[in-house]
Amino acid sequence: MASAHDAAVRAEGLARRFGELDAVAGVDLAVEPGEIYGFLGPNGAGKSTVVRMLTTLLAPTGGRAWVNGLDVVEHPGDVRFLIGVALQEAGLDAKMTGREVLVTQGRLFGLTRHEIDQRIDDLSPILDVAAIDRLVGTYSGGMARRLDLATALMHNPTVLFLDEPTTGLDPPGRLRVWDEVRRLNEEVGMTLFLTTQYLEEADELADRVGIINAGALVAEGTPSELKRSIGVDVITVQVDGDPHAAQRALEEIEGTDSVDAFGSELRVSASEGGRLLSPVALALDRAGVSVRELSMHSPTLDDVFLDVTGTHLEGGTA
Ligand SMILES: Nc1ncnc2c1ncn2[C@@H]1O[C@H](COP(=O)(O)OP(=O)(O)O)[C@@H](O)[C@H]1O
Ligand SMILES: [Mg+2]
Repeated sequence: MASAHDAAVRAEGLARRFGELDAVAGVDLAVEPGEIYGFLGPNGAGKSTVVRMLTTLLAPTGGRAWVNGLDVVEHPGDVRFLIGVALQEAGLDAKMTGREVLVTQGRLFGLTRHEIDQRIDDLSPILDVAAIDRLVGTYSGGMARRLDLATALMHNPTVLFLDEPTTGLDPPGRLRVWDEVRRLNEEVGMTLFLTTQYLEEADELADRVGIINAGALVAEGTPSELKRSIGVDVITVQVDGDPHAAQRALEEIEGTDSVDAFGSELRVSASEGGRLLSPVALALDRAGVSVRELSMHSPTLDDVFLDVTGTHLEGGTA
């Protein structure tokens, strides 16, 4: 086994069973120090369960995990000093003010009042400073999220876990979180483990992405590696009638990498998709298939997800 000490976060065969359900079914991963690791997957994939195990909040039922070489089960107290965690559901007390929440957290980690005030000052770019002495119960969802993020950062962790940090935020709120994630990573060199169901978030922020579906890691790589694995361009065709006849017709075209049918949607991957648009239209016409929609795009992480799972990541038609 490679040393568990070289990675900021490592999991080997990490598993969690709830009754009959294998919510996490043996996950292997390693996050290097200073890396932003994006853990991408749909609702129910097992993202939060993995985060809760890595952050000592939930006992694994199989496998092991380490943070900076420390086993999360054997050394939960030490691990907690190294990490910051902002869970999907912010666990903030509505009857406290923002400042009280931050001071309490600082005290929990043994900071002096002076250090606490300094940290609150450092964290002002993400905090809503004008609302810091208001009760948390009066905060909007975005304000509560940012307070929760600031709370996770109070003790200056070396590894920060963010579980769906932008779900439910409006676009400006999402951009603020993205900026803060980048700043923490670039200026402080913080390692980030963030989960998301938004492929553009993983694409924008993550150095490396792990795609999780039904408790298993199904693909991993840099966003561009993952997209390159799909081919350079994807032509998508929505057809009326028999998709298999359409698929057969498309398979006869030269210059395609692959032709896949997902219900009434056909996807042709090719390194030079632009040159295949008319051959695709012609082949379908000759095969008597009527085309409802035909378009081309460069691959996204959704194409990667579709390729490995057979379903779209976000809503989707398949
Ligand atoms: N405490 C629990 N008891 C039973 N099932 C759970 C529990 N927590 C999560 N699950 C189930 O485990 C699966 C993964 O959940 P979760 O890790 O929350 O997914 P995600 O965060 O990717 O949406 C889901 O099917 C969920 O219903
Ligand atoms: Mg979750």
